[in-house]
Amino acid sequence: MSNKKLSGEVYFPSEKIIEKAHIKDRDDLDNRAKKDYSGFWSEIANELHWFQKWDKVIDDSNKPFYRWFTGAKTNIVYNCLDVHTKTFRRNKLALIWEGENGESKTYSYFALHRETCKFSNILKSLGVQKGDRVTIYMGRTPEIVIAMLACARIGAVHSVVYGGFSVESLAERIEDSNSKVLIVSDGAYQRGKIVHLKQIADEALQRCGTVEHCLVIKRTGQEINMEQGRDMWYHELMNLPIATQNCALEIVDSEDPLFILYTSGTTGKPKAILHTHGGYMVGTYATLKYVFDIHEEDRYWCAADPGWITGHSYIVYAPLLNGTTSFLYEGAPNFPYPNRWWAMIEKYGINILYTAPTAIRGLMRFGESWVNRHDLSSLRLLGSVGEPINPEAWKWYHRVVGKEKCPIMDTWWQTETGMFMITPMPSVPLKPGSGTKPFPGIEMDIVDESGKSVKANEEGFLVIKTPWPAMIRTVYKDPERYISQYWSKYPGIYLTGDSARRDEDGYFWIIGRVDDVIKVSGYRLGTAEIESALVSHHSVAEAAAIGLPHELKGNAIYTYVILKSGIEKSPQLIEELRQHVSHEVGPIAKPEHIEFVDSLPKTRSGKIMRRVLKARALGQDPGNISTLEE
Ligand code: WTA
Repeated sequence: MSNKKLSGEVYFPSEKIIEKAHIKDRDDLDNRAKKDYSGFWSEIANELHWFQKWDKVIDDSNKPFYRWFTGAKTNIVYNCLDVHTKTFRRNKLALIWEGENGESKTYSYFALHRETCKFSNILKSLGVQKGDRVTIYMGRTPEIVIAMLACARIGAVHSVVYGGFSVESLAERIEDSNSKVLIVSDGAYQRGKIVHLKQIADEALQRCGTVEHCLVIKRTGQEINMEQGRDMWYHELMNLPIATQNCALEIVDSEDPLFILYTSGTTGKPKAILHTHGGYMVGTYATLKYVFDIHEEDRYWCAADPGWITGHSYIVYAPLLNGTTSFLYEGAPNFPYPNRWWAMIEKYGINILYTAPTAIRGLMRFGESWVNRHDLSSLRLLGSVGEPINPEAWKWYHRVVGKEKCPIMDTWWQTETGMFMITPMPSVPLKPGSGTKPFPGIEMDIVDESGKSVKANEEGFLVIKTPWPAMIRTVYKDPERYISQYWSKYPGIYLTGDSARRDEDGYFWIIGRVDDVIKVSGYRLGTAEIESALVSHHSVAEAAAIGLPHELKGNAIYTYVILKSGIEKSPQLIEELRQHVSHEVGPIAKPEHIEFVDSLPKTRSGKIMRRVLKARALGQDPGNISTLEE
C-alpha cells in the first residue's frame, strides 16, 4: 500500500485484520491484474471445477456482447454443492435458517445437495428442460435457495420475483419470461403478519396464461386455494419415489444462461438482466472471498432478500462457492423487539454482517442500548450495499455494532454487474461514505457529457471501461435495449446510470442515480412502474413519479396525478390510489405523497420532465427548461 497521506477522515485497519486478510495489498494486486487481466481471472477460475477448460478467457469479438471462458464446460451448482460433498465440508453447515416465529433449520452441504437433487428430479418430471424459465415467488426460507439451485442444476433458468412485489409485477414477469412453472409459498411471515403470497399469485395467474404447474411450499399453513390440475404441494412431491437424491447434473457451457432477474431501468417495463454460469461463478466467488475475506471457520450473514441481486450473488451463489456457512433470516429486523438482529448475531456467532444503509438507519433509531444488550464480539467484518451510506450511519455502524474493530465494506455494484465493482477490502484504509476504489483490474471512470474524465472532486457520470466476468450478457429477448441502455451514450463504455465524484486520493463517492430509477430503502424501482400502476386506476388520466430525499429510506416516492374529468379530489381517493399501487406493484412502491395537479411539465415531444418536478418540490432552480412545452 502506498504511504501517501490520505485526505479527510480515514479509518485504518488493525494489524490483526491485515494479518488475517487474503489480500494484504490491494494496490499490488491491482497492478498485477492490470498487467495481465486474462491471467488474473484465469488464475482465480482455476480454483473452481470445470468439466472442460476454456479456449479463451475474454472473447470480445462481438462487443458489447462479451463472452467469458469460452469453450469451457461447467455448472455453477457443481461448484456450490457437489465439490464440497467430496471433502470434509460434506458435514459442514451450508445454511442456518431462522424463521420470524423463532423456528430454525440447518442444512449441511450434504443435506442441501440432497434436497436440491430431489427437487431437480421433481422439476424434470414436470417436463422442465435446459433453457426453460421457471418463476420463483416466495419469502426468505431455505426452499428459495433449494429452488434456485434445483433449476440451475438441470440447466433451467430461474427468474426470481421478490416477495414484496405484487400482482401486476408478478404477472408481467411471468408472462415476459414465458414460465410454465411457478414456485410459490402459501405465505410468508413479516412483522408478525402473514403476507398472502399464494393469493397474490392466484390473481397474477389470472392475468397471464403461461403457467401449467404451480408448486406450493407450505410455510404458514393458512387456508389457501389449490387449483386442481395446476397446483401441487412441494412437500407431497418431495415425498414421491421419483424424488430421489441422485440427479444427474446438466453440464453446461460457460455462456449458457443461469438466471434472469427483472430490474427497473430508464422508461418502460422492467427488463430482464441475463447472467450466465461461467463468468458469474468466477466473479462472485472471487469478490466474496477477497472482500468479505472468507475463512473456513466463518459464519456469514447477508441480510438481503434472495429475490434481489444481492441475494442471488451473495446469499445463494458466492457463499456456497466459497464453502462457507451462511445464515438466512425470514423476517423483519425489529420483530418482536428491536434487538432481533443483535440477538441472532450472538446466538449463532455470526462473523460477517452485510446489509443496507436503510436497515442501519432504521435500527439506529431505536438507540444503542438494544445493541449493547448483546455480545457481538464474534463480528469481524461489516458490509453495506444498495445506496450511498451517510457518514453518520457509517460511524454508528462502525462504533456501536462493530465496536471500532470491524472494517466496513461499502460495496458498489448493480444487478447488471452481478458482482462488487467498487469496494474496499479489509486491509484498505476507509473513508466513511466511500466504497474506496474499483476491484483489482477493473477500470472505472467519471466522465462529463462528452465522455472526458472530469477533474478530482467534480461530479460526473460513473462508467466502466473494462469488461468483467459477472457482467450482464444481454437484456433477455431484447439485445437492442442492452446496447441502447448501457453502451450507446459512450460507445465501448458501460454506462452505470449513477453519478459520482472521485477525490484527490482516487476514492470514489457515489452521489445517486441520474436516470428514472428510484432507490427506496435500497430497493430499485422505476418511475414507469409506479406511473403505469397509477394510470391503471379508473380515476387517473396521467401520472408522474419522482424520488425525493428521505431520512430513513434514502429516497421516497412522490407522485403527481391528473384525474379524469368529473372525478372529485379527496383524501380518500389519495389513500385508495396508494393502496392501488401497493396492490399492483408492491408495498415497497406505495407513494409517500400524492398530489393532484392540472398539468404536468412536458417536453414538446410529450415526455414528462421529472427533473422540473423534482426541482420544484425541492425549491430549486429547474435549470435548462428550453424544451418545456408551453
Ligand atoms: C446503488 C444493488 C452507493 C447505485 C446491488 C446502483 C449504491 C444501484 C451502492 C444498483 C453503494 C448500490 N453505494 N450506491 N455501495 N450499491 N448502489 O441493481 O445507484 O438493485 O446503480 O443492485 O444501487 O441497484 P441494484
